[in-house]
Amino acid sequence: MLDTDRKDTNEVRYELAASTWGPEEIAAIHRVIEGNRFTMGAEVAAFETEYAAWHGLKYGVMVNSGSSANLVAVASLFYKKDRPLQRGDEAIAPAISWSTTYHPLQQYGLKLRFVDVELDTINMDVAQLERALTPRTRLIVAVSILGNPARLDAIRAFADRHDLYLLEDNCESLGAELPDGRKAGTFGDFNTSSFFFSHHIATMEGGMILTDDEELCHLARSIRAHGWTRELPPGTRIADRREDEFYEAYRFILPGYNLRPLEMSGAIGREQLKKLPEFLRARRRNLARFQTLFGGDDRFIIPRENGKSSSFSFPIVLNPKRQPDRRRILGALRDADIGFRIVTGGCFPRHDAIRHFDHEIVGTLKNANTVHDFGFFLGNHPFDLSREIELAYATLDRAFR
Ligand SMILES: Cc1ncc(COP(=O)(O)O)c(C=O)c1O
Repeated sequence: MLDTDRKDTNEVRYELAASTWGPEEIAAIHRVIEGNRFTMGAEVAAFETEYAAWHGLKYGVMVNSGSSANLVAVASLFYKKDRPLQRGDEAIAPAISWSTTYHPLQQYGLKLRFVDVELDTINMDVAQLERALTPRTRLIVAVSILGNPARLDAIRAFADRHDLYLLEDNCESLGAELPDGRKAGTFGDFNTSSFFFSHHIATMEGGMILTDDEELCHLARSIRAHGWTRELPPGTRIADRREDEFYEAYRFILPGYNLRPLEMSGAIGREQLKKLPEFLRARRRNLARFQTLFGGDDRFIIPRENGKSSSFSFPIVLNPKRQPDRRRILGALRDADIGFRIVTGGCFPRHDAIRHFDHEIVGTLKNANTVHDFGFFLGNHPFDLSREIELAYATLDRAFR
């Protein structure tokens, strides 16, 4: 339901996600149609440059989803000239994230060591990193859950101390800032974003890889598109440019994929990026209302902000000490037509897919399990949600009694 629809009715329906497209995005689609080039071209290239610049990073490589961004990032690290990742190497990751944060790690033969999260941020507990480290550790995956920055500075420092690659999956936290003002999505060797519907900016399907490392950028460009050389400038570290254009047109140097975005997605992304600052302000206004209502109530554990959350949505963990009946409480939300989901994807090792993973649990996953059993999130959108948030609070308050 769009904001305009809501004004016609007194009924409040609190949805999980809402469209943020306006006439600008539709005009962008028409611009591409009139240009008659639909596959990745100038609009995608411009969006890559603008998006990287927004983060203060050098290179952007757009792909068709956030999941593809993670896949290309992991794959690229296997083909670096110096110190490439190798099968059997280990990666440290938080126990709560989306499935495709983890899947490329499995697909490339890495062993995962899952670390618990903090209950009051739902982000990786950095105090566990030392315990998670082994002589085979080569990679850390950092994730900022639902808008709230993880301890990215501490994770980066740990990675540097132990010579590890850092992949920052920032698919949920575009625009979040650490206490010192640095942006989430800029701490990794690779940083990934998703532009799926409901994310901070939406091309409906789409994703981006950001890096400051030229070689990683070139690897990602090749792996994104068939493993060929076409998007590479002459004379890169990963391939020299041959004289013979006949062979160069179809020259394959890496085992790549086709994960290219459509040109329309690039054009839409550029329009959405212009609106991002206002989107973030609106989300944070809603966050303030949410914090005021839920913050002082010890039946609900809501995230302590580490810096400035970009508030993807509103995670709530029902305080287990108050012995909540989660089924009944979620039933009440359903009856009130309020959308909700398990936080991100829940505690990943509790999914059946884990059977296919070489993995170990570091210590216990006590907090991740609590979030899995007692947590859920409500939607946040870049327009006023005061009435919806009030409805959610009243519904939960009643259901808890
Ligand atoms: C942390 C995280 N990583 C990766 C993804 C995958 O993004 P996409 O849906 O664009 O493939 C998501 C999706 O929401 C996510 O939350």
